[in-house]
Amino acid sequence: MPVSPRHRILVLGGGSIGRRHAANLSLLGVRKIAVMEPDPVKRAALGKELDIETFNDASGAIAAFRPTIVFVCSPTKEHVPQALLAVRANADAFIEKPLSHAMEGTGELERVAAGRIVMIGCNMRFHPGPRKVKELIDSGAAGRVVRAHIHAASYLPDWRPQDDYRSSYSADPLQGGAILDFIHEIDLALWYCGPAALLHAAVEPAAEIGLTVDGKAVMKLGHSSGASSEISVSFVKKGYERGCTIEGTGGRIAWEYGKGVRLERKDGSAMEFFPEPPHYEPNRMYLDEIAYFLECVENRSTAFSGIIEGKAALAIALAARHGNRDCRGRNLA
Ligand SMILES: NC(=O)c1ccc[n+]([C@@H]2O[C@H](COP(=O)([O-])OP(=O)(O)OC[C@H]3O[C@@H](n4cnc5c(N)ncnc54)[C@H](O)[C@@H]3O)[C@@H](O)[C@H]2O)c1
Repeated sequence: MPVSPRHRILVLGGGSIGRRHAANLSLLGVRKIAVMEPDPVKRAALGKELDIETFNDASGAIAAFRPTIVFVCSPTKEHVPQALLAVRANADAFIEKPLSHAMEGTGELERVAAGRIVMIGCNMRFHPGPRKVKELIDSGAAGRVVRAHIHAASYLPDWRPQDDYRSSYSADPLQGGAILDFIHEIDLALWYCGPAALLHAAVEPAAEIGLTVDGKAVMKLGHSSGASSEISVSFVKKGYERGCTIEGTGGRIAWEYGKGVRLERKDGSAMEFFPEPPHYEPNRMYLDEIAYFLECVENRSTAFSGIIEGKAALAIALAARHGNRDCRGRNLA
């Protein structure tokens, strides 16, 4: 669908993900893009590189640029207050994951955003692996889902070798940690298996890389469908891995990042293999994600990953993060 020329898109936060979205919006044909970035060096570099207008504070940028859409790509603790500024100014909003670092303000955002299109970043849902897993689950290819295991690991010090990870938002006790960084995996568990509550969490600090935040966690969820899922995340394990195994009453679905999705019978014999497209470029999932969001805005249709879904994933993440073992059933819809 061609992008409407009426859109004026303001990106709040010109760091790694804000820069990516601004460049992708331009690739998708959006002509009026501005970025608000408080760091003067980054701001000047972005303005020059992308040839766009830049601002140094969120309220001023919204007043002067009058965006129809705001992309909230600032550090996590800024997401809710900045999304509130956006929807109060009648803009639609794309909010990067996680929705927030705390539940405070998320209910108010839900109320104020009524009538606006709001989507929470969920780029993994647009990756061909999880997308195929979801399609197979929904088609009943493996029967009714009984158990899921979803895992992700990526070594934080390797994420951006040019920056010191100890000063990143990931290292900040208020808004950092592996559980919030890998909230994609919680979102996928809810997407695959439906609403859930946290039953148990084993969380370990990232002491081996010199941080006090959670570095790895195993979370067990009970879904209202009767299925259970186990989610393992780590940013202290070296290397990169991502994948899942879904066990159903009629078979098994297994996804491995970079390889593809395998559908197996109950006895383990292969039924079908769906390889990852050759030379798949990870930026593709971000392009597909924002193209979908722009389509929702155009059609005034609810995004499949809105504030309700963002709150559900956040509630589980926070219960695990804060060692709340007494949340059985609380998050069940
Ligand atoms: N979906 C994904 O794959 C994905 C990937 C990376 C980050 N994220 C999320 O996006 C957010 C930003 O992450 P990042 O990796 O781009 O971080 P980053 O540190 O690279 O960039 C954040 C930028 O925000 C700027 N900033 C600081 N205070 C601000 C404020 N009050 N308003 C606006 N900008 C402000 C910083 O100067 C910095 O340039 C985080 O919440 C993170 O969880 C999502």
